[in-house]
Amino acid sequence: MVRIQHAARVALVVAATAFSASTPAAAIDVPHGKIIAQRWCAECHLVSPDQTRAKADAPSFADVASRKTSREISAFLTDPHPRMPDMTLSRDEIADLVGYIKSLGPGPEEPVTTPPKSGPDVPAMPKSG
Ligand code: HEC
Repeated sequence: MVRIQHAARVALVVAATAFSASTPAAAIDVPHGKIIAQRWCAECHLVSPDQTRAKADAPSFADVASRKTSREISAFLTDPHPRMPDMTLSRDEIADLVGYIKSLGPGPEEPVTTPPKSGPDVPAMPKSG
């Protein structure tokens, strides 16, 4: 009995996690942003203070945080720069990444921290994994 209850509880937690991951821009998940940054961005950018090697021509994320507002960073990521591979990040992933980048340091900040909801150039791109 105890075993079954435990399994049910685990299933519930997993379901809750999966749900929150697909909920549109409800909450910015900074630790998740860090995971994405380390997986997809660390090849070129210094994404965290403990990283020592990156490409010379890509600015560190701490530098980005000090120069750009959340809105500017998310706009950049929504419409990828030609020198960066198109990573087809979902809006949730962009929000988490921007939250993580802005957690690295102070910089210009506007009162609104949520990324733009949707627009003609913001296709909804569901992405798994
Ligand atoms: C293949 C290398 C590469 C990868 C991978 C990469 N970037 Fe970049 N990124 C660059 C380069 C190079 C620049 C500088 C582009 C320029 O200003 O011409 C840049 C610029 C940026 C900027 C703008 C900085 C500024 O000063 O305006 C942001 C923000 C950024 N990248 C975020 C990311 C994020 C987030 C990821 C991961 C999801 C990522 N990049 C992955 C190479 C990369």
